[in-house]
Amino acid sequence: MRYLITSALPYINGMKHLGNLVGSMLPADVYARFLRSEGEEVLLICATDEHGTPAEIAALEAGLDVADYCERQHRLQADVYRRFGLSFDHFGRTSAPQNHEVTQRFYLALERNGFIEEKQLLQCYSPDDGRFLPDRYVIGTCPRCGYNAARGDQCENCTCLLEPTELVGPRSAVSGSTVIEFRATDHLFLDLEVLSGRVRSWVESHPEWPRLTTSIALKWLDEGLKNRCITRDLTWGVRVPRPGFQDKVFYVWFDAPIGYVGATKEWSDLRPSDRDWPRWWLDADDVYYVQFMAKDNLPFHTVFWPASILGTGEPWTLPSYIKGFNWLTYYGGKFSTSQKRGVFMDKALEILPPDYWRYFLMAHAPETDDSDFTWELFAATINKDLVGNFGNFVNRTLKLIESRVGRRIPVGGAPGDREARLTGECSEVLGECRQQLRAMEFRKAVSTLRRLWSLGNVYVDERAPWKLLKEDPEQASIVLRTAVNLARVFAVAAWPFIPFTAEAVFEALHLEPEERTAHPSDPRLLTRLGGKRPFDVPPLLFRRIEETEIARLREEYGG
Ligand code: MF3
Ligand code: ZN
Repeated sequence: MRYLITSALPYINGMKHLGNLVGSMLPADVYARFLRSEGEEVLLICATDEHGTPAEIAALEAGLDVADYCERQHRLQADVYRRFGLSFDHFGRTSAPQNHEVTQRFYLALERNGFIEEKQLLQCYSPDDGRFLPDRYVIGTCPRCGYNAARGDQCENCTCLLEPTELVGPRSAVSGSTVIEFRATDHLFLDLEVLSGRVRSWVESHPEWPRLTTSIALKWLDEGLKNRCITRDLTWGVRVPRPGFQDKVFYVWFDAPIGYVGATKEWSDLRPSDRDWPRWWLDADDVYYVQFMAKDNLPFHTVFWPASILGTGEPWTLPSYIKGFNWLTYYGGKFSTSQKRGVFMDKALEILPPDYWRYFLMAHAPETDDSDFTWELFAATINKDLVGNFGNFVNRTLKLIESRVGRRIPVGGAPGDREARLTGECSEVLGECRQQLRAMEFRKAVSTLRRLWSLGNVYVDERAPWKLLKEDPEQASIVLRTAVNLARVFAVAAWPFIPFTAEAVFEALHLEPEERTAHPSDPRLLTRLGGKRPFDVPPLLFRRIEETEIARLREEYGG
């Protein structure tokens, strides 16, 4: 098996927040890193989702041409993801020519197979803006509650669903113009009524999926699917290859998931001699394809996109497993891009290095339920686990050796009973952690990792090498050598979660590439690094987050 892994494609507009990160990109990265460390062949793909009205509007607000705006935002996002250690094999763009090409190919196959229906719709048109307006860009007074900034699709105040025709005093969200007309125009619909049976069989053939994923898919299928409009009256997007549709583009949710394929083709086109995108996407029986996303994306990935794929009749790779996440909240409320509430990824890195965030987020990943970010919980988690457990173990043992013996691993004799027991415990816990990562049970895997680290601290406390150095130097050498070996195993196990820190430990221990993996059944798990090997003491791996700092952050970011 080869592993194709995708993270939901982040919208181009605006810097993403920690909720976006933990809901898709970060777990995809952790899983990909884990599998790579197991020696698996992995392809991790992500991209910016660039089409649609929100991009157009954001560009307008920024005073930029939409293509320039997207270019700039793509670079900003790519940069912050790189700094967070997200190890995408390729971070592409849905606006790339490759995605346009694949999207049109999908469409033409659907049309050929009779799954496209043409219908006339009445659309809001703004003569002053010279364009059609999507429902949500018509604003007016809610007929139910009187809220004066209700959108044409929904009132944010009373949450009722609306049609733009129901708004009192409608106006354009683009210019504020109150001249709104309704014009008839042709659109294309994907025949979901016919395709839903095939989608259901496919969903039902995957009883192993997480409950969240299956329940959302079945809820949509049970309610019955209506044919879905896949075209829009916009200029920014993928052209519709059909006579009479030269002024329209595909709906963003039609081309966005196809962006997974498009971005793979971008990757492949960069080095065509040794990369082959169809090997991952067409007739790829040996590909296990895992998708990561937050729960609002589940309907699109479990129902609408598979319907497009199945409708083409072509052997595109369907997801093997869909891992959905609940919400990360910020002091019980929503992280919000529009209201700038919560912590955004660029700001996060100004506060602390990436591993602090990566660790916290995976330790509290909203897997089975929503979870809540607070500065208090963040600080407590970091101080206890990273500073007090892992960091403390590595820094204190290596420093002790350096100051008492020098910067070489002590030689010592054969391990004793206590070390044999420790080796057994470590391989068991390490094996458990691996299994949980295979199963994408991230919170469990993090708590297992903590248990692993604790084994080291308990061992060193019990054996008290600082005392043995005076009383029994031979035993002291065994304990300290074992401790260095533990540091290696701990860093290896932690690498998918906190790669920057793990690599600092790898460097400090002068590990060869093949020493950067660890197998639970290795009889030399805790003796692999032998005496006399040189090492360095890494700089303090993690620092405490103090009360005063928490208060300041809380003040600055709200909560
Ligand atoms: N841009 C969407 C979001 O952020 C996700 C799109 S996933 C894709 O919610 F696969 F459709 F691109
Ligand atoms: Zn209302």
